[in-house]
Amino acid sequence: MKDRGVVGGAWFAPAANHTPRTTQSSLTVPRPATKMPDPMPDFHRIEDLPPLAGHTVVTRGWVMTTRSSGKIGFVMLRDGTGYLQVVLSKKDVPEAAWEAFGGLTQETSAEVTGTVRADARAPGGVELTATDLRVIGPSHDFPITPKEQHFTLVDTPILTGAIGEHAGTLFATEYFDLGKAYLAQTGQLYVEAAAAALGKVYCFGPTFRAEKSKTRRHLTEFWMVEPEVAWNDSEANMTLQEEFVSYIVIRALERRKAELAELERDVKPLEAVRPPFPRISYTDALTTLKGLGSDIEWGQDLGGDEETLLAKQFDRPVMVFNYPRAVKAFYMKENPADPRTVLNNDMLAPEGYGEIIGGSQREDDYDKLLARIRAERLPEDAYNWYLDLRKYGTFVHAGFGLGVERTVAWICGIPHIREAIAFPRTLYKLWP
Ligand code: 4AD
Ligand code: MG
Repeated sequence: MKDRGVVGGAWFAPAANHTPRTTQSSLTVPRPATKMPDPMPDFHRIEDLPPLAGHTVVTRGWVMTTRSSGKIGFVMLRDGTGYLQVVLSKKDVPEAAWEAFGGLTQETSAEVTGTVRADARAPGGVELTATDLRVIGPSHDFPITPKEQHFTLVDTPILTGAIGEHAGTLFATEYFDLGKAYLAQTGQLYVEAAAAALGKVYCFGPTFRAEKSKTRRHLTEFWMVEPEVAWNDSEANMTLQEEFVSYIVIRALERRKAELAELERDVKPLEAVRPPFPRISYTDALTTLKGLGSDIEWGQDLGGDEETLLAKQFDRPVMVFNYPRAVKAFYMKENPADPRTVLNNDMLAPEGYGEIIGGSQREDDYDKLLARIRAERLPEDAYNWYLDLRKYGTFVHAGFGLGVERTVAWICGIPHIREAIAFPRTLYKLWP
């Protein structure tokens, strides 16, 4: 995997265990004659705090997020042993501490003094009411700071006239005098139109696939979140995906530690989920798979077994890009460097959870898109409005769909997708 910089290092550095739990012991060791810096004063690691409710402690770590509601500030601190919410009240801390809070940025290292307070909702069951806060090491322009995203939610129809993905997995119904209506397989075609108006958009709703699959990964009704961004190409689309998925996982670790523990989820593998994610072309993925004993041939789609085998080679989700055109949907942009392939990618989750995201740059060339619609024998009339997006001011754009239940199943470590939704719909399940 190509090392793209500081990210992994910054995340893993705190876990280095050469610092003693507290520094009391260092006081008993004879000091060398040369002048050494003063020893660090006593402190507690976050994992030690739960039994100390009511006590005053000092703890240190790295800032993940901050928020403030006027005179109250919140800091989420991480030290490699756990996560801790620190609450500062402007009137209860020295002025310098309140000022230091105002300057905290992601990955700043800081020392906080305060009283441990039991709170069942907090990760680890405690939070810290601060009496003091001091910055140890500032962090300027940390390269993966979550950006303000300003996406507009656009609700897309469930009853649709155009096939969104594949003709093979449609739920259809008679629609008055207008022929067939289909339950939406995706909101994508509509968010593409919305992206032409609003730039960055997403939809979030139920989608339907008449899949005759009995796997632990398939539902017939599932929820999908689908961002679509004007002027993003496939590369930018993958960057957005890794930021999005990392953010979701980090938030779950920050705020849902107790629930993950209840589910007996080993959170170690989740802690590795940080950008950059490995990116591997379909063609290279095939070479890897063959090397691992698979008999897959170029041109075939990756099946569940291949996805699991490939994903096992990495400690975080892997993005496989530029699949053969023949196994992917009609709207994906032809790869100019190799027209047998398209500018798409799937994101495969670790631990055997398979594809959680499918995404692509969209075909923005009118003639090429029309040719694809014809080649797939899709009803041309139903796509006139979609083709118009390429006729009147076409634009580079890309997006993706994240399957909510598959993602929940992975993060929670749930073996079967039906346990990730309250009322699952599968080939065999229409009740309750
Ligand atoms: O790869 P898919 O089919 O992509 C699309 O629908 C695109 N139109 C999305 C887009 O570009 N806007 O589906 C996206 C994701 C999959 O990666 C998977 O997580 C989930 O939706 N998914 C399913 N989840 C549960 N049961 C099924 N039958 C699923 N089919 C897809
Ligand atoms: Mg897919």
